[in-house]
Amino acid sequence: MKMAIIYTSVTGNTEQLVHIIALFFKTNNQAIDIYTVHDFPIQQLSTYDLVIVGTYSWGNGDLPKEMEGLYEAFEMQNVDHLITGVFGTGDRFYPHFCGAVDEFRDMLYAHTNLAVTLKVELMPQSSDLSKCEKFYKSLMKRVQKAKVN
Ligand SMILES: Cc1cc2nc3c(=O)[nH]c(=O)nc-3n(C[C@H](O)[C@H](O)[C@H](O)COP(=O)(O)O)c2cc1C
Repeated sequence: MKMAIIYTSVTGNTEQLVHIIALFFKTNNQAIDIYTVHDFPIQQLSTYDLVIVGTYSWGNGDLPKEMEGLYEAFEMQNVDHLITGVFGTGDRFYPHFCGAVDEFRDMLYAHTNLAVTLKVELMPQSSDLSKCEKFYKSLMKRVQKAKVN
């Protein structure tokens, strides 16, 4: 099972969420590659079995500029088999809270086997841990289902 988290983070909130989510994989002895979007070898996207996208939101609930290439790669490459999840941090001060998560969600739903989404306000708090665990478990449930079928 080849798995990756691909993320972007400027002020560290989304990166914190990456660490929390990665911990669930580590605790369950599951290897997962962690890449910033800048470092991810985009041509290898379709070689993965599971990909998790992590993003903040920008402008008016927009995708960060650096995520556009990854977004397009999902649209262009053969990724129907990919189990995916998308999470992000945002700020409820803005009218479109975690808009980039919604944008990825709609596209991933159309092009991949999207299992779950997660939105967190700014820096993750201990109260967000149960949401992160749910996120992880939903992904694993989808993995099991894919193995059975
Ligand atoms: C100029 C600007 C625009 C933003 N626009 C949005 C937005 O539309 N929706 C939202 O939920 N958060 C918005 N945010 C908040 C960031 O997404 C939020 O602070 C996020 O946690 C930053 O993630 P990072 O620490 O991983 O970089 C905006 C922040 C800035 C500075």
